[in-house]
Amino acid sequence: MILRPITERLFREAGVKEGMRVLDLGCGPGDVSFLAAEMVGASGWVIGIDQAPEAITLARNRAREKGIKNVDFELTPIEMFSSPIRFDAVVGRYILVQIRPHSFSAALDQHSASRSVLPDRPHLGQSWGVPIVNSIP
Ligand SMILES: C[S@@+](CC[C@H](N)C(=O)[O-])C[C@H]1O[C@@H](n2cnc3c(N)ncnc32)[C@H](O)[C@@H]1O
Repeated sequence: MILRPITERLFREAGVKEGMRVLDLGCGPGDVSFLAAEMVGASGWVIGIDQAPEAITLARNRAREKGIKNVDFELTPIEMFSSPIRFDAVVGRYILVQIRPHSFSAALDQHSASRSVLPDRPHLGQSWGVPIVNSIP
């Protein structure tokens, strides 16, 4: 609840909108994926990925309970995820403290519809911590 408005504002300002396909890296229990699913609406689609089985189980159960249809979750390390789809937005909240920035950048390159940071093709990393503050872009 505390984080949601911050993330929502960041997504809005970055251009996440109706109809987009969004990849959520390190989705945990799914809060970011659910927010993105709401923002992209029924014509959009979100996939959240995480390497922790308990996180994916929880996220799937929560999606079912909430009746959210435009979100899927996949159990996989970010580094092993493969998809034929290029995503309109690749996001990840609080994962830069857990993975190397290089892995995050590589995932953006591999899965984004665009190779550059453009207003209508967002790549978003939201993370902070001590002593490192990291954000891409
Ligand atoms: C601090 S949690 C953040 C969860 C979620 N993004 C949020 O903001 O609520 C970080 C998540 O990243 C996942 N994670 C860390 N490294 C990962 C990797 N290499 N591949 C997939 N998931 C990873 C962890 O399992 C954990 O669920």
